[in-house]
Amino acid sequence: METARYSALQLKLERLLDVAALITAERDLDKLLELILKTAVDLTEADAGSIYVREGEKLFFRVALNRTLSRRDKTALTTNFGRSVSIPMDEHSIAGFVAKNRRLLNIPDAYAIPDDRPYRHNRDFDRASNYECRSMLLSPMTDHRGEVAGVIQIINARYRPDKAKWEPFNEEDERLITSLSSLAGTAITRSRLIQELYETYKLVMTRMALAVEQRESDPDTFVHIYRIADYAAAVARRMGLDEDFVRYLKDAAPMHDIGKQCIPDAILFKPGRLTPEEFEVVKKHTIYGSSLFAGMEEPIAKFAYNITRYHHERFDGGGYPDGLKGRDIPLEARIVSVVDVFDALATDRVYKKAMPLERCLAILNEGAGSQFDPEVVAAFMEVLDEILLIREHYERKKREGASC
Ligand SMILES: [Fe+2]
Ligand SMILES: [Fe+2]
Repeated sequence: METARYSALQLKLERLLDVAALITAERDLDKLLELILKTAVDLTEADAGSIYVREGEKLFFRVALNRTLSRRDKTALTTNFGRSVSIPMDEHSIAGFVAKNRRLLNIPDAYAIPDDRPYRHNRDFDRASNYECRSMLLSPMTDHRGEVAGVIQIINARYRPDKAKWEPFNEEDERLITSLSSLAGTAITRSRLIQELYETYKLVMTRMALAVEQRESDPDTFVHIYRIADYAAAVARRMGLDEDFVRYLKDAAPMHDIGKQCIPDAILFKPGRLTPEEFEVVKKHTIYGSSLFAGMEEPIAKFAYNITRYHHERFDGGGYPDGLKGRDIPLEARIVSVVDVFDALATDRVYKKAMPLERCLAILNEGAGSQFDPEVVAAFMEVLDEILLIREHYERKKREGASC
């Protein structure tokens, strides 16, 4: 019996070690929280659980998992609440008490909490869902700096049909959750720092791109960079590309012409045709732009590099600056190439009128296989309704004079 118990615990510890690698590698906060919660519930064989993430002096109820409710109501196993529900980090709630005192709390029955405790079990959720949260195990998730990053809460340990009640959590559960929590705390803080860095990076890049577009003193040009980002995302989704690809593409697309900052006004805004020498100068915006991102390891920087450098390459190899051909041109650049040309043709500018839609579409179709990747053009045509809605959305914003 003892041996069987030992090997069951050993199996769980091995499982925890396996998951540890996944937890430390996960950069996306929502995916990370789900992974932590599923692991906690699986390891303790519990019925339900939730995770609170700390922001300042608040705890945000971010993700919940409930096997019984998911089975009974035929809903997804986990629910993500985003940042919609929060509680103060004080001792009146069970999670607040755990975060404030940085200690594990094992509650055998949340409906029989002794009166001398400062916290109470809030039964609103139980009543609304017709579910009783009875035994509970909560642990603070502390990061490498000793700060509480959040609280994990596991609900209803193994069910005892003979007694028709949920068992309390035991010492083995406590040990497993404590080990998981310290790993999880550091991973949550790390993922949030990466997220903040990404947002800052994106903001700086977008401001730089806007500065370039505003040189043209055309009210539409700055809308252009947001519009093509949305167009590109719609096309990429249609092509079945994954969420990360779509996000990096959307956030890097506005940078496509950032290298124009280095092109003299006399050439960039010259009315009429450019001389071949002047055109050679303009072509260099791809080199100048991409040099900003050269050698950077962040995924968004790699997308920005490929888009700035290759958005004027042609599918038949006749483009610039490198004359790449077909699939040698990175996909993100092939997508931006199509939506950038479409937007330039289909939009009024101070110096030219927009082309009729049918003509713009004909130009894309005629260019499929020569200037453009035919698969990208096909996907563009399939999401045309969405493209037109995006265009209408920005037209409305422009009329209302709102900034994007
Ligand atoms: Fe360009
Ligand atoms: Fe453009």
